[in-house]
Amino acid sequence: MAIVEVLDLRKQYDPPKGVLAVDGVSFDIGEGEIFSLLGPNGAGKSTTISMLSCLLQPSGGDARVAGHSVVSEAQAVKEAIGVVPQDIALYPDMSARENLVFWGKMYGLRGEELTRRVDEVLELITLVDRQKDRLEKFSGGMKRRVNIGVALLHKPRVLYLDEPTVGIDPQSRRSILDGILALRDQGMTILYTTHYMAEAQELSDRVGIVDHGKMIAVGTNAELVQIVGAEAHVVLSVDHYLEGMVERWSEVKGVTKAMVDGDEHAVLLVQDANEVLPRLFEAAAAAGARITEVSVTEPNLEMVFLHLTGRALRE
Ligand SMILES: Nc1ncnc2c1ncn2[C@@H]1O[C@H](COP(=O)(O)OP(=O)(O)OP(=O)(O)O)[C@@H](O)[C@H]1O
Ligand SMILES: [Mg+2]
Repeated sequence: MAIVEVLDLRKQYDPPKGVLAVDGVSFDIGEGEIFSLLGPNGAGKSTTISMLSCLLQPSGGDARVAGHSVVSEAQAVKEAIGVVPQDIALYPDMSARENLVFWGKMYGLRGEELTRRVDEVLELITLVDRQKDRLEKFSGGMKRRVNIGVALLHKPRVLYLDEPTVGIDPQSRRSILDGILALRDQGMTILYTTHYMAEAQELSDRVGIVDHGKMIAVGTNAELVQIVGAEAHVVLSVDHYLEGMVERWSEVKGVTKAMVDGDEHAVLLVQDANEVLPRLFEAAAAAGARITEVSVTEPNLEMVFLHLTGRALRE
């Protein structure tokens, strides 16, 4: 059963000439599922989350969350969801516990129930032993965990997390990802946004790949990877003349896409790496360049994005 149903959702900022940040997006999220929106900067992820949180009025389309319309039943939607926004909003001069108590009261929790929920949430975000420290003393990752705790206080059925692991240490990242998997195992539905391919791949039951306001592919990892079929991902470095080399390689038989990635690498999609690699070396030799590094990767979501857009999904 779908608990989130998004139907042709649209947002144009500053109409009529403003950017179409979300351009007719539709998807469903099943109850108890982790669904990720994977896309680069500016793809429209936060705009989508804002509309699904009733913080931003859609320009068109609608979505139902726990059976309620985000356009006409905002209050019921807000009761069903917890939102972890991309930008942290907490009080730096209050402790972790005080922040949770403050937000718990905002949600209408009182007395023993409030105390119990705050204790449970501190356990969940593994900050029991730091609960009395002021937020300003916390690392970015710890603040992020408190932010997640706030969104969980009222036991929402659906949790939205907007890029919760950007700019934090690896240990906090691990703790957040494990926490999300644990919440899913308890039956919570999760909508997650990220531009990290590896995170989407690890966490999600299904992934929607978004770019320029459009959902360009949706499915399980296995389904999405089939889009690139048996193609392999080859990354090459040469000692000089990278752009020229990429042009030459793009014409080699068996190469379906070739592009420059950053200053040092060429990224190629090829049909059969073992067959194509010798030709790539030959082409380099013929151009007087030496290959200094080469790697071959199995199909992944990064390749799906590259295949569909011709651009790299930059981390
Ligand atoms: N308040 C706003 N007014 C006008 N344009 C906006 C506003 N917010 C976002 N945009 C534009 O809408 C598009 C989508 O932005 P959005 O923040 O939804 O993308 P995103 O996928 O969340 O990106 P990021 O990964 O950088 O967070 C971008 O082109 C952005 O510049
Ligand atoms: Mg965003």
